[in-house]
Amino acid sequence: MKNSSVFYKGWLAILCIAGLLETNAYAQTITIPVETAKTAIVLQVAPNKDVNTIYLGKKLSNPGEYGNIPGVYQQGNNYSGMYNSAYTPAGSRNLLEPAIAVTHADGNNSLDLKYVNHSVTRVSDDISLLSIKLKDPVYDFEVTLYYKSYYNEDVIEQWSVIEHHEKGDVVLQKFASANINLNAGSYWLRQYHGDWAKEMRPEETELTHGIKTLDSKLGTRADLFMPSVFMVSLNHPATEDEGSVLFGSLEWSGNFKTDLEIDPQDNLRVISGMNNYASPYQLAAGQAFETPPFVYTFSAEGKGKASRNLQSWARNYKLVDGKGTRMTLLNNWESTNFDFNETKLSELLKDTKKLGVDLFLLDDGWFGNSYPRNSDHAGLGDWQENRKKLPNGIAAIAREAQSNGVKFGIWIEPEMVNPKSDLYAKHPDWVIKQQKREEYYFRNQLVLDLSNAQVQDFVYHIVDSLFIKDPALAYIKWDCNAVIYNAYSVHLHQNQSQFYVEYVRGLYKVLQRIRAKYPNVPMMLCSGGGGRVDYGALQYFTEFWPSDNTDPIERIFIQWEYSYFYPAIASANHVTDWGKQPLKFRVDVAMMGKLGFDIVVDKLSGNDLKFCQDAIPTYNNIKPIIWQGDQYRLSDPRTESVASLMYVNADRSSAVMLNYLVNYRYDEGSKRPILLKGLDSNKKYKIKEINLYPGAKSAINATKVYSGDFLSKVGFNPVVNLDRTSVVLQINVVKE
Ligand code: DGJ
Repeated sequence: MKNSSVFYKGWLAILCIAGLLETNAYAQTITIPVETAKTAIVLQVAPNKDVNTIYLGKKLSNPGEYGNIPGVYQQGNNYSGMYNSAYTPAGSRNLLEPAIAVTHADGNNSLDLKYVNHSVTRVSDDISLLSIKLKDPVYDFEVTLYYKSYYNEDVIEQWSVIEHHEKGDVVLQKFASANINLNAGSYWLRQYHGDWAKEMRPEETELTHGIKTLDSKLGTRADLFMPSVFMVSLNHPATEDEGSVLFGSLEWSGNFKTDLEIDPQDNLRVISGMNNYASPYQLAAGQAFETPPFVYTFSAEGKGKASRNLQSWARNYKLVDGKGTRMTLLNNWESTNFDFNETKLSELLKDTKKLGVDLFLLDDGWFGNSYPRNSDHAGLGDWQENRKKLPNGIAAIAREAQSNGVKFGIWIEPEMVNPKSDLYAKHPDWVIKQQKREEYYFRNQLVLDLSNAQVQDFVYHIVDSLFIKDPALAYIKWDCNAVIYNAYSVHLHQNQSQFYVEYVRGLYKVLQRIRAKYPNVPMMLCSGGGGRVDYGALQYFTEFWPSDNTDPIERIFIQWEYSYFYPAIASANHVTDWGKQPLKFRVDVAMMGKLGFDIVVDKLSGNDLKFCQDAIPTYNNIKPIIWQGDQYRLSDPRTESVASLMYVNADRSSAVMLNYLVNYRYDEGSKRPILLKGLDSNKKYKIKEINLYPGAKSAINATKVYSGDFLSKVGFNPVVNLDRTSVVLQINVVKE
């Protein structure tokens, strides 16, 4: 990081100066700024020891001025401590939506939190960790707020740790991760909803006074109807390159709740955390309760910059092997479903080789004997190879993959059980269900109780024994298709209200164990599509499955919206037979992220096969730019006929521009040049069309030279029309 040590020293000096300056005017206030490259969040300790957030926005050139930001206590009204609290406690002076609410050991419901101290730990050149300790003046109850700032990425993670030493258990009624405060004339929320095959549908509206809640109570597959990602623009909806906007998301793979409340003074309070629905949590004295991080980034340069912040943070710090590479693959779900045997798989392995991808991924249907997995009605839980389909076991398939020169991966759904399974008969107490009620299924299955350490062990060993049997196993697709109905854990006895929290913690314990032993094995996070795409889970995965909807037109929209929050390297995009578009279009769309295939290679025409075989080396050539480059959205499919985006490498010498026709009405297409972004104005570039279908001639003159300045101001027309529905361009600097 440039000048980081100067920044750090300066930062500490500022803390002292701010404290001193304010002593005269307002008696003992402490100002605590958290700065990243472009953003500052400023906390202030008021004379009464309340900790408030007084600023979140563009960082100031002179950090000494943070102390001049008006604090809430100066307003001289009766509401001190009610607005802008850095972590709003319930039951005392605060009457707005709380971040934390508790019932003390003596049954009292009031909480107040006062500043005790704070400290900053420098984790690396890029990362600082601020912790602020708060304590109730009456009860032996404390909360530590954490702010982990990633300077270069402009990203902050916030969470809290709650502890007490009361005489008896305290019940946590609400336990948010973060309580953020924004101040603007109006607030525009972009939120997402969905269902199976309908992930990431956006809605953008102006927030009104009162509370807007985004939440999930589904337990597992928690994002099925709504993910926790959202954006809030200040004053007017931010565009791609203009406006102030905050992107946020909870790093948690279970029930979440984000309340966006405009208070009577027109501040926006964003309170996000695990959902407290059915979850009052009994906390013993001396036990620490840690909430998951809420991650956010603020951009004063529109949504594009915010998304690049999150993407680079995810690659640098969150995803497994985010800076590494990925394998192209052929999956068999769309082509065979449950219907395959050794002979068919042997052909598919040859197809994998013929296609030229790195790996064959065997999907659902390979296991179960008493109850063979021939449909989604049976077998989940019995993770032994089906003897009829695979008489020589997985090891034989893996060996055959090896002799074809391709790698082998496998699908599992280890958290689940079908009532038609040996596991269900043997361990009914491991199954989440209401003992006295009729069972109710989602995709004919139930969820295993991961709050139970024995179940965690079982799930861990499913994965571990796959690797023990086949050490060359190179890839796991981890699916999770059911939500939790009739939530009840035999294991938790009287502590049922801890269930939703302990389930996810149990899942993470398993994933941590897997990662401790197999740190780098690529794993795809799937949940019947994108039912579990969140950074809590993604810290254990290399990629995610955005949706079972692989119709390429749909995928443009789905992948577009995911890309605001997640980097291209994490988005597993497979070419299938869904949709009406030609193969070239489908491949071009999958190239927006990590390319894969799920097609019947055998049925491809000569030209289609040749096109795919050529597309893979083409993709291999450009994938470093797509995976590690900066992404710029150029033309929005929701408002234009053509969707267009580009990726630019770090030194701006190479870029890839992807263009797709999304409106198929008469004479639609790219009528005007599209303005390119991210290039160096002073450099000269040539533009070449790549990934052409066999026999096709490009409409683009690849010898012409353009300056970056020209391309960003006048633009370039990729010539997308009804005859050229998708166009991939490689932009390379001209060496002088
Ligand atoms: C749902 C996944 O999203 C699909 O890709 C496939 O793996 C099926 N499950 C298998 O049951």
